Order: sequence, then C-alpha cells, then structure tokens
Amino acid sequence: MSWNLPGCPWLITHTSMLETNQPKMFTIAGQDYVFWKNQNNEITAIENKCPHMGAKLSDGWICRETNTIVCPFHALNFDNTGRAIVQNEKKSLPLLKQLKLFIQEGFIWTYCNEEPKIPIPDAIINLFTNYHFVGMVGETTVKADFLTALEINYDYNHAKGVHRDLLRVKDLEAADFQFEEYSFAAKLKQIREKNTIDEYLKNPLLLVSPSTVNLELEHYFPSCVASHHNQPPLGKLCEVFVIYPETRTTTKMFVLIFKESSIGIMNQIVDGQIKSILEEVVRQDAVMAENLYHNAQIKIKLPNEEPLNFARQLYYQWTG
Ligand code: FES
Ligand SMILES: [Fe+2]
Repeated sequence: MSWNLPGCPWLITHTSMLETNQPKMFTIAGQDYVFWKNQNNEITAIENKCPHMGAKLSDGWICRETNTIVCPFHALNFDNTGRAIVQNEKKSLPLLKQLKLFIQEGFIWTYCNEEPKIPIPDAIINLFTNYHFVGMVGETTVKADFLTALEINYDYNHAKGVHRDLLRVKDLEAADFQFEEYSFAAKLKQIREKNTIDEYLKNPLLLVSPSTVNLELEHYFPSCVASHHNQPPLGKLCEVFVIYPETRTTTKMFVLIFKESSIGIMNQIVDGQIKSILEEVVRQDAVMAENLYHNAQIKIKLPNEEPLNFARQLYYQWTG
C-alpha cells in the first residue's frame, strides 16, 4: 500500500466551484487531471498531460459546440473520453485516461480509478436534510504530506495553540467517543476566553460566540470531519473540513459550510464572516503543518488524543 491510500474516497470539490466551460487542474494522489463543466452541467475529468508534446491541457480552452478541450500548444482537440479529434480521420482510441467521478448533490468524489475499499460517507449528502449548503472556502494546497494534514484534522488540542488568537480556546473536554471501523463521533466542549477588541473589530461574529462552544464531531476517515454546532442567534451550523493527497509532499485542504438557514441580507453578511473565520482557520492550520519538524519522535502524550491515535493507526494500516 502506498502514501496515497488507494481505495479511499476523496472529495475533490463542488460543481458550483467550477466555472462553466473553464478548464481547471486538480492534482490528486500524484496525478494531474483537467476538469471542466459544460453548459449542461456535465463534468469531465481526464489526464492533464497532452499526449502530443506534454502541454498542460488545463491551460487550454473548451470548445462549447463539441464539448472538447483544446490544447494550448498546437490546438489539438480531445473529447470527454480522452480521444484526440483529428480532422478527416477516424476516432482514435482514448489517449488520455478518464478519471471516474461519483457526483452526489453536486459534490465530486473519486477513488482515483482504484477499487473502492471504504464507501463514500452518506453523512455528507445527509447534511442536506437539516442544512442548506452555503459554499466552500479556504481551498489551499498545503506543503505538507497527507499524514500531517490528517493529524491536524483529528487533533482536538491544537485549537489551544494554532487558533489561539482566533478561537481563544483555553480548555477543552472530549466525551462520548463512538468508534466504528472507519469513522467515529465525539462530543467536544471548547471553553473560551474573550477575544480582544481588535479581534472583535476584525470579525464581529466573535461577539456572539459563547464562552463554551459545544461541538458534535463526526470523523470520516480519511477525508472529512464534520463539526456541528448550534450558535444562537445564528442557528445550527456545520463545517466540514476536507483533505486529500495531491502529491507525496502536498495536501489539499478546504472547508464546506452548511447552515440551517441562509436567506436574507443579514444571513449574507453572517455567511461572509463565517467564511472569513474559516479561511483564517485553514490558513493557520497550513502554516503550522508547513513548519513542523518532520519525523519528530513523539515523547509526550496529551489528554484527548484518542481521535488522533485512531487516525494514525488507520493511516499506518493502509500505508504499511
Ligand atoms: S502539445 Fe498538445 S497539441 Fe501539441
Ligand atoms: Fe485547525
């Protein structure tokens, strides 16, 4: 088994993040792909390396009439199955591999054409029962391996350090762990100090953040962590922290935001502030991940590290 966890489901993006007829490159598990969405909302994903002389197809353009991508180097056309379309010639065999996608409520998942070993968690699609999807924020390529990003997503204590000047968590209590084969749930209490005036001015939403934040966490190994909370007067919120391996040394991070209600001008302002807090959360995680000494030997254990150990164990089982 290898660093890119073959057989795991990866959540890549949401269709709303793709501009119509605009190619976009995604690097997943060591391979570059070009994605595009046509005017009928059909999504294509094929290898990004032009089989003529290696140009990046994602730097090319889409021909709307034929739903083909045109290479930016010598303008060869490729269809959505990866075949080159050459005038007056019969259709060739596909020269570019297609990436098999699984699209659920606009969320684009892939197994990187590997045999699935863990199902796509229903929990993400089930969020639509209680919530409205607000959007995806903080999309960042972190210069750190996948395990480092995974550990941050399962580490409850890091809020006290990494996010200290934003969340002001001074203490935390984790309880009700429910472990399953590849997922687990927990309840987490974050006890907060007040923010500074500057921090409130920067983000007035912090003013309504209670002194104790009660979170219900659901971890779906290896890609998603859903964090549910109820924050009057905002109502119920859920943030899903998502990661996937891009290369051996880079990992993609982003957050999906779900809210009970999101209609009206007030909600738009609040959504904007939630987005800016989460963008900062991802930025802070990325800075920490990129600045660690790797292969540091763990000589101290902290309370509340059960989730972290669970994720590490699964990761090492997978990677051998
Ligand atoms: S490199 Fe793509 S057409 Fe030549
Ligand atoms: Fe974090």
